[in-house]
Amino acid sequence: GIGIGPLRTETGAVTYDPGFMNTANTKSAITFIDGDEGILRYRGIPIEQLAEHSTYLETAYLLITGDLPTKSQLENFEVSIQERTLLDESFKRVFEAFPRDAHPMAVLQAGVSALSTFYQDSLDPFDTEAVRISTARLIAKMPTMAAYAHRVAHGQPLMYPDNNRSLIQNFLRLMFAFPVEDYLADPLIERAMEQLLILHADHEQNCSTSAVRLVGSAQANLFTSISAGVGALSGPAHGGANAAVMKMLDEMRENDISPRAFMEKVKNKEDGIRLMGFGHRVYKNYDPRARIVKGLADEVLERLGVDDERLDLAMKLEEIALNDDYFVERKLYPNVDFYTGIIYRAIGFPTEMFTVLFALGRLPGWIAQWREMVADPETKIGRPRQIYTGETKRDYRQLSERT
Ligand code: ACO
Repeated sequence: GIGIGPLRTETGAVTYDPGFMNTANTKSAITFIDGDEGILRYRGIPIEQLAEHSTYLETAYLLITGDLPTKSQLENFEVSIQERTLLDESFKRVFEAFPRDAHPMAVLQAGVSALSTFYQDSLDPFDTEAVRISTARLIAKMPTMAAYAHRVAHGQPLMYPDNNRSLIQNFLRLMFAFPVEDYLADPLIERAMEQLLILHADHEQNCSTSAVRLVGSAQANLFTSISAGVGALSGPAHGGANAAVMKMLDEMRENDISPRAFMEKVKNKEDGIRLMGFGHRVYKNYDPRARIVKGLADEVLERLGVDDERLDLAMKLEEIALNDDYFVERKLYPNVDFYTGIIYRAIGFPTEMFTVLFALGRLPGWIAQWREMVADPETKIGRPRQIYTGETKRDYRQLSERT
């Protein structure tokens, strides 16, 4: 059998490690995770402190530059983003071209990719000023694009961003201001959004970040590399999990399946179902982000006066899991996405937007990781090896000779 470890191929010894369970692709000074202890720090600062005190843009600055900004650095960074939230006018046609029922993640990925066609003056990965501008463009324009993806799907007009507002207020207005244009989100909701985005902002070499690095290692531009990250994040085993949790809870409610009965199905691996929002490649303990989100869910639902049965259902599932050998032995705990959907839904986001919100959150991390890679003299083009298992040499047979 083939296992993890050095293997001999025709060209020498290689390490076979499916899913890179044990292979470091890079050195990185951005994010520290201790999965056994349930610790997450950005640039050394615990996630709990950032969620409590920081903002999305300040955390983005920290991730990208390595340090918290001074007051004037933060103001300059915020202004450089605020002034770039608009999209080129003809960009709107890109969004209008998609079918109404297109998934917003697919639309977002296409939009991010299209930035390379509209903003060709900031594509050079080795030009520091170009990278600074493309960074600001991405952080500023992705929320606009995300809201446009939503608006087009609902047949609503594409509004202009209002740059007198914070990035998050602006995004919430672009999402929800219809038909009332002067929509202003409750400050608690704005703060909850900031916190959720901070919690998602980086997670070292996860699937989408690795995709960004791999594409970027070929010296592809930042926009193109990030669009690969959006694509990877759309998968249900990664960013799609937050929507999958909601779908799971909705199905349990609609079909009147009790938490216990559902958990039996999961444990028996019936139809391969998993408890979505549970388990993590790195955390073998409670995901520290999930703890914060759980508290936030309570707060937001109370503020909005929403009584969502799904929160009770999710809490029951968690309680069963924490006391069940199947989950305990496999060290399966709630991950960040177990409770996020309940908050997003309470704020008013449709399920298909959940993963888009994850993408907005993860964007600063993708950018920071891409920039770290570009600046690293040890970077080489990513090019994994394989263990060939196909046919040995055989000759081509003419069509007439094949039966
Ligand atoms: N429900 C039930 N059983 C599970 C779950 C789950 N959510 N997750 C893992 N297991 C079981 C597996 O069946 C396996 O059991 P076995 O040893 O009897 O075969 C064991 O736990 C190990 O699972 P793997 O799939 O090998 O673990 P891996 O590290 O490859 O997977 C993953 C991690 C993909 C996150 C997995 O736990 C999962 O599918 N979870 C549900 C989807 C999800 O929530 N994804 C979000 C990830 S976090 C994020 O992107 C923010």
